[in-house]
Amino acid sequence: MGENLLEIKGLCKHFNLKKSIFEKNKKVLHAVDDVTLEIKKGETLGLVGESGCGKTTLGRTVVKLYEPTSGEIVYDNKNITNLNFQEMKSFRRKIQMIFQDPYASLNPRQTIGDIIKEPMEIHNLYEEKNRDKKVLEILELVGLNSSHMSRYPHEFSGGQRQRVGIARALACDPEFIVCDEPISALDVSIQAQIINTLEDLQKKLGLTYLFIAHDLSMVKHISDRVGIMYLGK
Ligand SMILES: Nc1ncnc2c1ncn2[C@@H]1O[C@H](COP(=O)(O)OP(=O)(O)O)[C@@H](O)[C@H]1O
Ligand SMILES: [Mg+2]
Repeated sequence: MGENLLEIKGLCKHFNLKKSIFEKNKKVLHAVDDVTLEIKKGETLGLVGESGCGKTTLGRTVVKLYEPTSGEIVYDNKNITNLNFQEMKSFRRKIQMIFQDPYASLNPRQTIGDIIKEPMEIHNLYEEKNRDKKVLEILELVGLNSSHMSRYPHEFSGGQRQRVGIARALACDPEFIVCDEPISALDVSIQAQIINTLEDLQKKLGLTYLFIAHDLSMVKHISDRVGIMYLGK
């Protein structure tokens, strides 16, 4: 540990809100407002803040699901702030996200096997005949097994579904994962299991995490350092 994997400098993400007919000026919402942080290789940075303070927006901007309004994102010493879609493709593979609501982020009409295979197809990873084997490896890594491959998301419990979400993020062999409140929607009894899985995976695969949560209790446990976010700052 020592080298920075991710550096964010003065990052802003503003949303233009629709103005009503009674308002003269356009309203702009400063969801992320001048955020600067660094994450070292292999580290977990916790990010905590109350609901609505801009955590998800920050996470989505970092993985470039949102275009930043201003500021800089440097990944592995390369400035990725203004890369276009094509140039971003190789980084998309390395930078993944795990979402808060695993049910909403998984396609209900796809089997688990297809859900995990899809990123491999998009990024043209592994030979086609080897992909099923790879899916199986990943399922076992996240605590699922071969019998789950042909099932659909609704057949799983919340915790298992989040494991599928994690498996999908792992499908293209990433380096850095934004975990956006991955346990907030789960039963308390299952939260610790998912945290343990994420910690095991970090050790085995050398992953770097930005771990977002709205309270300190779990973040304290998993993070090397913790940042607090308040009103976009
Ligand atoms: N796509 C969007 N368009 C307009 N406003 C948004 C959008 N996404 C989030 N916001 C607003 O940005 C603020 C931060 O939201 P969010 O990043 O989801 O916070 P958190 O994840 O910390 O709960 C909120 O006020 C939210 O309403
Ligand atoms: Mg959020």
